[in-house]
Amino acid sequence: MSQRIKIKALLQTTPAEQEVNVKGWVRTFRNNQFIALNDGSTNSNIQIVVDFQNTDEALLKRITTGAALSVTGILVASLGKGQAVDVKATNIEILGDSDPEKYPLQPKKHSLEFLREIAHLRFRTNTFGAIFRVRNSLAFAVHRFFQEQGFVYLHTPVITASDAEGAGEAFKVTNLDLDNLPRTENGEIDYKQDFFGRATNLTVSGQLEGELGAMALSDIYTFGPTFRAENSNTTRHLAEFWMIEPEMAFYDLADNMDLAEGLLKYVINYALEHNREDIEFLTQRLLDEEKSKPQQERSEMSLLEKLQFCLNNNFERLTYTQAIEILKDSTPNKKKKFQYLIEGWGADLQSEHERYLVEKHFKKPVILTDYPKEIKSFYMRQNDDGKTVAAMDILFPGIGEIVGGSQREERLEKLEQRMDEIGIPKDELWWYLDTRRFGGCPHAGFGLGFERLVLFVTGMGNIRDVIPFPRFPKNAEF
Ligand code: 4AD
Ligand code: MG
Repeated sequence: MSQRIKIKALLQTTPAEQEVNVKGWVRTFRNNQFIALNDGSTNSNIQIVVDFQNTDEALLKRITTGAALSVTGILVASLGKGQAVDVKATNIEILGDSDPEKYPLQPKKHSLEFLREIAHLRFRTNTFGAIFRVRNSLAFAVHRFFQEQGFVYLHTPVITASDAEGAGEAFKVTNLDLDNLPRTENGEIDYKQDFFGRATNLTVSGQLEGELGAMALSDIYTFGPTFRAENSNTTRHLAEFWMIEPEMAFYDLADNMDLAEGLLKYVINYALEHNREDIEFLTQRLLDEEKSKPQQERSEMSLLEKLQFCLNNNFERLTYTQAIEILKDSTPNKKKKFQYLIEGWGADLQSEHERYLVEKHFKKPVILTDYPKEIKSFYMRQNDDGKTVAAMDILFPGIGEIVGGSQREERLEKLEQRMDEIGIPKDELWWYLDTRRFGGCPHAGFGLGFERLVLFVTGMGNIRDVIPFPRFPKNAEF
């Protein structure tokens, strides 16, 4: 019996009447004669030609959409259009039946909402096969980018006692008996009796620990899951998402921006080179979807063009203060079309503002810098104006914020003063402050939301469709 060959490799094989074995799942079975078989190695199916007159009737009945098959046959040049080769089956073995009455995935177009409910099976559709192959490539490209530059992949803890962003939106981790919580004399929960002897939570960011690594290894990056208990029911937020957080000693804000822009372009280019077929499929999917929309709502660029455009243009860099001027004078602000009107300096930017800047004003990715310190985290380096910090956010078309980062405050005095102002307990972060006490140095870093990146590269509209099993308010199925 021939060794199994994956369909991607088989489709590139020159047919010479050789015997081959393929395994996969039936997409369709037409006329009792043509099986479209897919094994996930590529978006394309291999066509299996069945000699139905010489095949057992009972076996033919079991070749149904969703069934798993092992097919041995002869590789021949295809007579039909659309594929170069066919397999003329000599032996078909049913590895797993799929009851056509009950199988939820029919060979027709299903809505993304429906597919989300059957996320355990949606990998078997063309769309999700393409998405998860692209996601895989992007993850690999992220590692390759950093490894090529000598960065150290650092594993920061998933369970931690620190709430890195100070935003108070972490999931608690406990093994206390919730029906019988131990209490202190004041009636508060006594976390001393908890597993770690203190209150702990799932990490919201690995940054603070990442900084510790950078203060010795120079350049590190994390790539792991992060958790936020914010009640954001949007197409851009997940409660569990993957984040890439590089942290570099001796970098300033400009170096930080260069690295982030370089990373984004590198990984997008990698996907374009290695996932051409999938991205072309997703581009076509989007074009088909947009056909039902009125002309003015359709995108100016196709997905493929948008990705190319992103590679070929420098990201626009401007300060928060400059952005506020643009927004204040913008038509939607004057005509009161923004939900949150921009009255003046100091306003926090909402996604409608970010998207105006990127999609309407500059029509390309934008890096905003030097935000008011009040709307940013305590660890960001204070600028000399006393009002702003050396922060940077990268805004992408259709996405909004994809990267958030900053140069870090390396001056102990300034850092402690800011923590006091905001009320962040210094004793809990003694280890973080230690790096400023012993050989502190200028450094910078950022966080790239991995799913937002996948969203951009696949052209999908909802972040719940680019992670295998999304976690969001009131949902933790699978
Ligand atoms: O801007 P954020 O909150 O920054 C940090 O966590 C910093 N500690 C990063 C750093 O400097 N090392 O998050 C960074 C990025 C955002 O720009 C966004 O892309 C993504 O993480 N992100 C989310 N993605 C999906 N769902 C959510 N709820 C997200 N929150 C942030
Ligand atoms: Mg942010």
